[in-house]
Amino acid sequence: MAIIAPSLLASNFLRLEEECKMLNKSEADWFHLDVMDGRFVPNISFGMPVIEQIRKTTTKTCDVHLMIEEPERYAEAFKKAGADRLSVHYEACRHLHRNVQQIKSLDMKAGVVLNPHTPVEFLSDIIQDLDLVLIMSVNPGFGGQVFIPHTYQKIRNLRRMIHERGLDGHTLIQIDGGVTVENAGTLIKAGADVLVAGTTVFKSADPIATIKALKNAD
Ligand code: DX5
Ligand code: ZN
Repeated sequence: MAIIAPSLLASNFLRLEEECKMLNKSEADWFHLDVMDGRFVPNISFGMPVIEQIRKTTTKTCDVHLMIEEPERYAEAFKKAGADRLSVHYEACRHLHRNVQQIKSLDMKAGVVLNPHTPVEFLSDIIQDLDLVLIMSVNPGFGGQVFIPHTYQKIRNLRRMIHERGLDGHTLIQIDGGVTVENAGTLIKAGADVLVAGTTVFKSADPIATIKALKNAD
């Protein structure tokens, strides 16, 4: 069974507390929180004050996806806001190894995110240090985009790399963007461990049932 991480970017911010309570009741495993700075991606979402409030509503894992430049400037602040896991973009980090060590030293799980154009092979010399690799299956910055099919091949290649290094169960593979109840099974078969879903969950008539359907996909 995959780990399901609904993205609150697609939630109703006017009813944020109720949305969080709904996730608490559901089979969702993690809260996926998308932070955008208007520089690394052409959009701005929310930051620490909102995450602090979300943290108060749940004991589930807060999985923070940073789509920001210079993430090292803010890692500590996100820890303080309540992040359990912090993922930074490969494309935003000049000293990725240092960023990963910083996140771990703050006692968070460290993830690295790859844009659609970035090959999984670029992680070959750091994969052993990662708790998670997030493969973007859309270009980051917006919810509700269409899944890029080439992602399947990237997942298979990354799964092979992780397996060959003996890192199965240690380094998780997460997929983000355009995930639906229809493609969830294929993603899991290709080797995904964690599925992020925004629109699919929050725009559905019955989010709790949709989360259950994602959870049971195979
Ligand atoms: C996009 C974000 C995603 C987004 C996914 O930049 O990283 O987490 O919320 O939205 P959907 O599931 O609607 O594609
Ligand atoms: Zn995300």
